[in-house]
Amino acid sequence: MMKKVLIILLSVAILAAAGIALAGINNTPHNIPQFVSGKTGEPCAYCHTPHVGGTGDPTYPLWNRSQNGITYTMYSSPTFDMTPGPTRTQAQVDMSTRACLQCHNGVASELINYPGRGLKSASAEATYNFTGTDLGNLANIGTDLRQEHPVGFTYNPSLDNENNGFPAINSGKVGTTNLPLYGTDITQVREMLGCGSCHEPHDRYTYTGKNATQVYFLRNATASDNGNAGSAMCKACHVNKY
Ligand code: HEC
Ligand code: HEC
Ligand code: HEC
Ligand code: HEC
Repeated sequence: MMKKVLIILLSVAILAAAGIALAGINNTPHNIPQFVSGKTGEPCAYCHTPHVGGTGDPTYPLWNRSQNGITYTMYSSPTFDMTPGPTRTQAQVDMSTRACLQCHNGVASELINYPGRGLKSASAEATYNFTGTDLGNLANIGTDLRQEHPVGFTYNPSLDNENNGFPAINSGKVGTTNLPLYGTDITQVREMLGCGSCHEPHDRYTYTGKNATQVYFLRNATASDNGNAGSAMCKACHVNKY
């Protein structure tokens, strides 16, 4: 009897694992050596290093890129209540947004620890470093964030004069959703909204290649939709707007 229960539990676990196994960077634009011309080498190394990420910014998650001295122009509007002010230095923006923008702001960024013996060489730099020209137009967000959904600010449902009905923070996530919040670094309380609140940079689900279907890396994407069917993700936060 016990054995049967165990076998059933095991099968459920295996099935669940098989479902999750659809996600991953392969066949997405984030498999950079596969899809960006002039880029080769280890796909994970474009973003992560197993050792000696050093004083990179941010250090989480074993981050392997560095870029300093960026000032972002922040989103503002007459009805934006959780306002972070007109500009912010890189260090004041949440760590998730900093990580994404180290490629997506179109400003050059380089690796901290190059694969192998970690030595820089002209060819390693040409491969792993990033410039705006490695990105198509829509992927180059720039440093002026006024045209983007607000990021890099503290999510505070009690500052909401327009009655959006934002759920309360629950263990660093928005209400009961899977949408995470961040600090400016890993030691800070997780209460800031960043790029990673909506995006998961490894997910592909059923997509079959960069040019076959647009890949949005959305957190709540499922195998059967393109990530935000029925604006489900927007409704999860802006509860009263639907
Ligand atoms: C384009 C950049 C990029 C590439 C390429 C990339 N990652 Fe990540 N990875 C991230 C970012 C950003 C996070 C932080 C996600 C968050 O917390 O919102 C992360 C987080 C992680 C985490 C910890 C959190 C989690 O989601 O489990 C693991 C483990 C991880 N990556 C493994 C890998 C491996 C293995 C590869 C290569 C197959 C890889 N990543 C390729 C950007 C990347
Ligand atoms: C190592 C550099 C790098 C980092 C870090 C990175 N990306 Fe990307 N990302 C790319 C490249 C290169 C592409 C493909 C660009 C293209 O299609 O022109 C891309 C494509 C995308 C796309 C698809 C857009 C398109 O036009 O195809 C999205 C969405 C995206 N990234 C979101 C993110 C988010 C969110 C993060 C942080 C969690 C992130 N990226 C971190 C390099 C990066
Ligand atoms: C509030 C949720 C949200 C946040 C925060 C967010 N995005 Fe997106 N992003 C989306 C959605 C939804 C799409 C798909 C848009 C569509 O269907 O055209 C998208 C699309 C993209 C694309 C594809 C290009 C395009 O315009 O279609 C890129 C690149 C991207 N996001 C990067 C980022 C980066 C970098 C950040 C942080 C600066 C960020 N996103 C923050 C929701 C978000
Ligand atoms: C993770 C939660 C979250 C998600 C998901 C989300 N938003 Fe937001 N959004 C916010 C918060 C918080 C604000 C800031 C509200 C404020 O301070 O007035 C905001 C601001 C906005 C604003 C600007 C409001 C203003 O007063 O200037 C618009 C428009 C908006 N979101 C639309 C969207 C759309 C469309 C989507 C889906 C693509 C979306 N949001 C997804 C949390 C979210």
